Amino acid sequence: MTAARAGARNASQPTTPADAVVFFGATGDLAFKQIFPALAALIRDEGLDVPIIGVARSGDLESLRERARQSLQAHGFAHEAAIKALTDHLRYVKGSDDDVATFHALRRELGDARHPLHYLAVPPALFGEVVVNLQASGCSTGARIIVEKPFGRDLASAVALNETIHKVFAEPDVFRIDHYLGKEPVQNLLYFRFANAFLEPIWNRDHVSSVQVNMPEAMDVADRGAFYDQAGAIRDVVQNHLLQVVSLLAMEAPSGHTPEAVRNEQFKVLDSIRPLAPADIVRGQYRGYRGVAGVAPDSTVETFAALRLHVDTWRWAGVPFYIRTGKCLPVTVTEVLVEMKRPPQSVFGETQPADADYLRFRLSPDMSISLGARAKKPGEAMVGEAVELFAAHQRGTERPPYERLIGDAIHGDQSLFSREDSVEAAWRVVDGVLDDGKTPPNAYEPGTWGPPEAVTVLVRGDRWHDPAATPDTVEGTVPAKAGAGGRATVPDVRGGTVPAGRGAGAVR
Ligand code: BG6
Repeated sequence: MTAARAGARNASQPTTPADAVVFFGATGDLAFKQIFPALAALIRDEGLDVPIIGVARSGDLESLRERARQSLQAHGFAHEAAIKALTDHLRYVKGSDDDVATFHALRRELGDARHPLHYLAVPPALFGEVVVNLQASGCSTGARIIVEKPFGRDLASAVALNETIHKVFAEPDVFRIDHYLGKEPVQNLLYFRFANAFLEPIWNRDHVSSVQVNMPEAMDVADRGAFYDQAGAIRDVVQNHLLQVVSLLAMEAPSGHTPEAVRNEQFKVLDSIRPLAPADIVRGQYRGYRGVAGVAPDSTVETFAALRLHVDTWRWAGVPFYIRTGKCLPVTVTEVLVEMKRPPQSVFGETQPADADYLRFRLSPDMSISLGARAKKPGEAMVGEAVELFAAHQRGTERPPYERLIGDAIHGDQSLFSREDSVEAAWRVVDGVLDDGKTPPNAYEPGTWGPPEAVTVLVRGDRWHDPAATPDTVEGTVPAKAGAGGRATVPDVRGGTVPAGRGAGAVR
């Protein structure tokens, strides 16, 4: 993620591309949902032409090929030549992660490959063993590894895991995936902030009153009960995805043009966030969670978290950064709201206290940026209303995060991966409130915005802004220009948006 990245792979540090891709956990969920489609797309789009070796305990090469075909079919991937190339490239090593013989078999299967990329799509508890066996079999020489989140369970285990990995792999060869960093709208936060000079003078404690990152998800934990009950919302998405988003929102401009320049600034933000105290967070659990397969009947794991971060930097001192996320909430949306300070005086003597101006970044499922402000209502009185300038992204050629990230790892580009110090700094933020059964979470009904107690993390009259399910179609839309449209909307008091058809004019 260099300042000049602009979607292209970073070429500032030439490295040797991987000459084989190995994935452990070949019959697992992640391989089915992400790795097969990503590899097939890399074959189609970049001509990836290396052996692809699956390692798993059960099955054989033919069943792995069949699983790859099923995965691609389930994802609507219809490029026949790429499907054939993927299945032709597939190799299979049957065995177990704790058996060094499996790894010797892998080394034989690697043949002439000297720079394999090993993707550890296995539970984090197995990372240590795999790494040790990769070394013992000679498979780690000249190699890189990709490890999935969650990287560790807490600060101590993350530090220990980093130590284990570093005994075998140097940091430049370790690729810690956080797929949020591979998302186009998340990259756009970085781009938008530093490609527009007008933001810098107001992007600080003098003008911003609070920052809010909402990631509600309507789905329950479904078939992931066993995994989720070992994790909870804080480990699952706060420690990684959402703190990464905060780091991009709060960082200083990178100095220099190396990939490290951005990662250095992200680290500094994470390192400056005060470790969370119990009063900074409200945990929740939806009713019915304890009945999910794989979940302990007396589980105290949180499926919801609302929290307030203190970013202790010169720029942000005193500005609360709020995060709210949970399963079984009303909508599935990720949205950032940067609320500005109100004018110092009410010049027009309006009796209704105005909503604050804001910048809203919708990161998913659609991508848009809006600016909420006040404009005068037509008429003689100096009375205004809330309007919103809205720019929607037209879906184009962006690549799904896993395709982009696996492609980057194959080429040795670490820009969009989490660095050791950042991962540990993020664990330091949440470490004190991981709880592990000490405090029962607050119950909430599925389909609501979480437990009512969530308001207690807010300060100074702030409120939660509930993202709307869809960016609404409104009257007053001005002609689209290069993918951007203008519109006026009135923020609803609950924080969603309602059409501007009630008298609000288009903003031009
Ligand atoms: C994953 C979490 O990392 O991110 C899931 O394990 C969560 O619980 C998912 O649903 C959200 O990612 P996305 O890309 O669907 O927004």
